[in-house]
Amino acid sequence: MLIDVEGVDGVGKSTVIAVLYRMLTERGYRVHVTREPSDGPIGRFIRDNVLKGRLNITPEALTLLFAADRAMHYASEIGPRLNEGYLVITERYIESSVAYQGAQGVSIGWILEVNSKVPKPDMVFILDAPMEVIARRISGRVNLEYFERNVEFLSRVREIYLSRAREMGYIVVDASLSPEEEALTMLNYIEGKAKGS
Ligand code: TYD
Repeated sequence: MLIDVEGVDGVGKSTVIAVLYRMLTERGYRVHVTREPSDGPIGRFIRDNVLKGRLNITPEALTLLFAADRAMHYASEIGPRLNEGYLVITERYIESSVAYQGAQGVSIGWILEVNSKVPKPDMVFILDAPMEVIARRISGRVNLEYFERNVEFLSRVREIYLSRAREMGYIVVDASLSPEEEALTMLNYIEGKAKGS
């Protein structure tokens, strides 16, 4: 099973994933956690150049870079771990491109098209909190990345996430709760799906 955890910068994805990882392994699941941009060469290129603001790139070109990173990430890491029977949790996947590059003005239909060669996740969680909560969390960070600098942009990203959740039936998790409560909610959905109910 491939699980995608999504949400705007600052909503607390990494923390919740760490708690969820512990809960799942305690219950005997073999879990592999990963993220995008990936730790592969294209993901590193994105982090070192685009997210640090060193490279000026059009939204369409960026969409293709993320899609290329994703294709390699799936082929070299996600797919092999799934084949070995792991439950794979990825922090960000296709829906990050839909929300972020969509908010940059790229057509969502085209974003989905260039990502259509990688398998869809089995479950998508959208961590969501009011923009004030997110803005407060981000304002405590030093060295802000490219997309974290603009709260107005992040609120557009959030709107796309929420409208995709409505359209696609993704699970929206209240990220103003504690990480334990959030992870427990996610665990219940995952166990429900794993047991086929
Ligand atoms: P992020 O999860 O913030 O990585 P880290 O916290 O490790 O630096 O992801 C980096 C940024 O990249 C984030 O602002 C969202 C953006 N992003 C996209 O715009 N499109 C995508 O397809 C992905 C995967 C990320």
